[in-house]
Amino acid sequence: MNSTAAQAWVAGLYDAYVTTTADHAFFLAEVCAAGGPILELMAGTGRLSLPLAEAGADLTCVDLSGPMLDRLRAKLAAKGLHADVVEADIRELALPRRDFALAILPFQSFAELLTPEDQLAALARVAHHLAPDGRFICTLHNPVLRARTIDGQLRLLGSFPLPDRAATLLLWSTQQLLPDGVTVRAAQLYEIYDRDGRLSEKRRLDVRFRLVGRAELEALARSVGFRVVALCGDYDRSPIADERSPCLIWTLAR
Ligand SMILES: C[S@@+](CC[C@H](N)C(=O)[O-])C[C@H]1O[C@@H](n2cnc3c(N)ncnc32)[C@H](O)[C@@H]1O
Repeated sequence: MNSTAAQAWVAGLYDAYVTTTADHAFFLAEVCAAGGPILELMAGTGRLSLPLAEAGADLTCVDLSGPMLDRLRAKLAAKGLHADVVEADIRELALPRRDFALAILPFQSFAELLTPEDQLAALARVAHHLAPDGRFICTLHNPVLRARTIDGQLRLLGSFPLPDRAATLLLWSTQQLLPDGVTVRAAQLYEIYDRDGRLSEKRRLDVRFRLVGRAELEALARSVGFRVVALCGDYDRSPIADERSPCLIWTLAR
């Protein structure tokens, strides 16, 4: 499957298996407090964009996947909501406006930037688009805990109804650390069963992400002029604890 076909395949299923709302209250509060234009990076199909647009945010959503953004546009239109939707790679982002009060990169997706060079490029482009007192909230998995789940074992991530197709998706994953010690290769196996329990489609997608350490992110952020305003270990704003926190949530400013 080429990468465009893979993007379309994932876009068609993403909302069935990514349904978490655990970060909604956190980001809604941050967006309200920012009181200005919001830049959402790697927005995908709008899992978070929809509630932000519903709350009245002046929202610009960026993603490099056309099929993911098609779904986001359709969902906004179905609810009569508006956001500027931009298909772009955040490493090369060049929007006409540079007045964002807040940029957010939710769902720990910064890890999808696989090298320090890619991360640096993205951080520099985010900084370029912020208002002088603008802030950037960047999220990552806690690499200490995340590393423990990378053991080469095949795991069932879940069984998800696909009501439009009267079918069920079973999603499996196996993850492996590459020899560089920081890049994870994850094979995702998608099985779709029809209403009679027959396997009707089966696909495998390979995705990669980087286990980014706290010091690494902060050094990169500093090198493009950011300072750390706050760091939480979860969306309830609990402080970071290496052995317990599920994620790292930075608020950065210049
Ligand atoms: C795991 S999804 C998260 C989507 C959404 N933020 C959410 O919380 O459900 C990651 C998204 O990042 C996008 N993406 C990956 N690399 C990107 C890049 N360099 N520039 C822009 N988008 C990127 C993918 O297309 C995908 O939609």
